[in-house]
Amino acid sequence: MSFEYTPENLATFEELVTHYPDHYRRAVTLPALHLAQRQNGWCSPDVMEYIAALVGTSPAQVRDVVTFYPMFFEEPVGKYIVRVCHTLPCDLCGCAKIKDHLTEKLGVGMEATTEDGKITLLSTECLAACDQAPVMMIDDDLHGLLTPEKVDELIDGLE
Ligand code: FES
Repeated sequence: MSFEYTPENLATFEELVTHYPDHYRRAVTLPALHLAQRQNGWCSPDVMEYIAALVGTSPAQVRDVVTFYPMFFEEPVGKYIVRVCHTLPCDLCGCAKIKDHLTEKLGVGMEATTEDGKITLLSTECLAACDQAPVMMIDDDLHGLLTPEKVDELIDGLE
């Protein structure tokens, strides 16, 4: 097992545990995984082993959680995660055009990572901002009313 939290993340984890009755560590599995993924970039097998030991469960149970939620990655991903909504309101407002523009611009298909490892492009369900369709997220930031020009501006602004 080679993954370990940074001292700051370990302190955050221990603080999170105090929010649960009887300091039930297993209840912290989801935020613990989010912290680990933010630190490591993805939920590698050693991350899952580490979290399992930390919360007092088995790596298989942690893997169950990781495979259930689409926000966790089981493989390495790019530095930036770009999620394009494909649900009906965004579909009706031209998300296909946005996806085509992105795949052409980045030279990579959906559900894939650019060769330089900079951007992972994903198609996703509703991002709860239908009034701004078409919508995408770059990491935790939502961007709506997209046009190819706005997409260019956003992507070109990523360092
Ligand atoms: S359908 Fe795209 S944000 Fe809701």
